[in-house]
Amino acid sequence: MTDEHQISVFDAIASRRSVRSFEDVPVEDAKINLCVEAARLAPSWANKQCWHFVVVRGKQAVAELGLTPAHIKNAQVLVIACGDPDKSGNIDGKQYYLVDVAIAVEHLVLAAWEQGLGTVWVGAFKEERVRKALGIPENIKVVALIPMGYPAGKEGIRAKLLKKVVGSANRKDVKEIVHWEKW
Ligand SMILES: Cc1cc2nc3c(=O)[nH]c(=O)nc-3n(C[C@H](O)[C@H](O)[C@H](O)COP(=O)(O)O)c2cc1C
Repeated sequence: MTDEHQISVFDAIASRRSVRSFEDVPVEDAKINLCVEAARLAPSWANKQCWHFVVVRGKQAVAELGLTPAHIKNAQVLVIACGDPDKSGNIDGKQYYLVDVAIAVEHLVLAAWEQGLGTVWVGAFKEERVRKALGIPENIKVVALIPMGYPAGKEGIRAKLLKKVVGSANRKDVKEIVHWEKW
């Protein structure tokens, strides 16, 4: 990565968008390592670091997992983000392993974006299928699948459609979500 590619954390946050179509170009191990390192450094419940990441490299290896949705199939890398509920907190029914893993995933996603790599958080998957395909132990929860690669110049029609449906760039107005001093 050269200086000219460096962007601020806020710029990365503000410019990031989910990417669901990827170039047919391999992703360098050094870039994947930086993403994983960003995840590793995330804060977590009592610093228990309840997460595990399975990293599948190479388009063919990813495709051979036979996982849906379609945008996983053309990814160059697939990161499977997992959490161990027994290693995190649980207060008032709030399972903090989800929080721990979510923060780590966002670190990973932003580190990817900073390096010119696109990702999308995929939450819609069949956990047992993923568990079986990757030999993930029964006591470990699969929280997210993160396909990764260089964003394709032209996105496929499905990706475009989905973006339209979810209104990818739309965000609520600050007045709707921030309550100064009192709700
Ligand atoms: C918890 C979570 C689950 C998601 N699951 C999916 C998914 O299964 N498939 C998908 O295409 N996008 C998924 N997304 C991506 C969101 O649709 C996307 O982040 C949102 O529409 C905002 O668009 P942006 O990421 O481009 O800013 C998920 C995002 C989150 C945070």
